[in-house]
Amino acid sequence: MKTRMTELLGIKHPIMLAGMAFVSLPKLVAAVSNAGGIGMLNSVAYTPDQVKGVIREVKDLTDKPFGVNATLILPNGRENIAVALEEKVPILNYALGKGDWIIKAAHEYGGKVLATVAIEKHARRAEMDGADALVVTGHEAAAHGAEVGTLVLIPSIARQSKLPIIAAGGFCDGRGLAAALVLGADGISMGTRLMLTQECEMHQKAKELSLKATAEDTICSEKIDGLPGRWLKNPAAIKMAEGKPSLFEAFSSALRIKRLINVPFYKLILGGLKQRGVQDLARQALSLKGLKAAIDNGDLETGVLPIGQAIGLMKDIPTCKEVMERTVSEAEELVEALRKKITS
Ligand SMILES: Cc1cc2nc3c(=O)[nH]c(=O)nc-3n(C[C@H](O)[C@H](O)[C@H](O)COP(=O)(O)O)c2cc1C
Repeated sequence: MKTRMTELLGIKHPIMLAGMAFVSLPKLVAAVSNAGGIGMLNSVAYTPDQVKGVIREVKDLTDKPFGVNATLILPNGRENIAVALEEKVPILNYALGKGDWIIKAAHEYGGKVLATVAIEKHARRAEMDGADALVVTGHEAAAHGAEVGTLVLIPSIARQSKLPIIAAGGFCDGRGLAAALVLGADGISMGTRLMLTQECEMHQKAKELSLKATAEDTICSEKIDGLPGRWLKNPAAIKMAEGKPSLFEAFSSALRIKRLINVPFYKLILGGLKQRGVQDLARQALSLKGLKAAIDNGDLETGVLPIGQAIGLMKDIPTCKEVMERTVSEAEELVEALRKKITS
C-alpha cells in the first residue's frame, strides 16, 4: 500500500510503532522496521551518553529506516534528540515541546521530522515550524492524548494542513487503517497493539493480563504522571488518580528518577519545579517506578501501564510482521467490500 506516509519515510506499509517509554526499545523498533513499517525508538530510558549506543544497536538490527522519539519536556528529552541528530537518524519524532531547532538540524542532512500533536493549535505551530508530517493523537490513545477523539480530530486537522498525517489513538487492525485513510490520514501509528507483540520485551505476564482488559478498563487522569493521560484501570492507577503526593514523596521520587534515568539532581529539581511543580514531579517519578514494575516484572497490581481503548479489540499476541501484513491486507479487503456495499 502506497500513501504519502510510505513515500515520505521510504517504507512499505503505512504503519508506525509509537514511541513508548520503556517499550519501544531496539528489538521492537527493528522488528517493526524489518516488517515494513517505521520503528520509533523511545529515548526516555536513556542518558545522552547511552542513547548513542542504543541507536547503533538498532542500526545493527535493521538496515531499514527507523526513528528516534523524545518527549521534549521530560529530563534528557532535548539532549537525546540532539544525539540522534548527531547520529543522522533518518526520522525524528518529538512531542510536548517546540521542535523548530530539530527540524532545521534534521533537514540539513535530509532527515525527516514528525511532530506529535493532540490539539489543532500545536498542529498549526508544527506546520509553520517546517515539520514533514504530523502524528495526530486522539483521546482513545494510551498515555497523553487531549480531549478530542480520533474521529473528529483527524479530519479537522487534515482539513487545515497540507502535511501527511499519521493517525494515532485507537488503531490496531485493518478496519482502523481503512478508517484513518477515509478520515484524511495517510497512515497510522500503533502503540498498544505493537506493545502486545512477541518481539516486545515487556514481561509476558503483563501482556497476558492486559489482553483480559476491555475498552472500558482504562482510566484518564492527570494525577498519575502529572499530565492528562490514559492508563490501565488497575488498583495502583485508581489509587494514584485519587492521591496527592507529599513534599517528602516529591524529593524521594526525584532521587528515584535520578537513579532510573541518570539525570543530574539539580537539573531534575529545577526543571521539574519550573515546568510542573513539586507534586507533579513526584507523580512523574512514582509513575516511572510503576511503569518499570509493570513492564519489567509484569506487576499490574502495584505497577501502572499506559494503555489505549483499542485494548478491547485485541485477542492475541502476534509477531510484528503478522500485525503489519494482516492490517494492510484487511484494510485493502475492507475498502473493496465497502465499494460493493454502497453500490449494490
Ligand atoms: C506503555 C506506553 C508508553 C508510552 N510512552 C510514551 C512516551 O514516552 N512518549 C509519548 O509521546 N507517547 C507515549 N505513549 C503513547 C504512544 O506514543 C501513542 O500515542 C499511543 O500509544 C497511541 O495510542 P494506541 O495505544 O491506541 O495505539 C506510550 C504508550 C504506551 C502504551
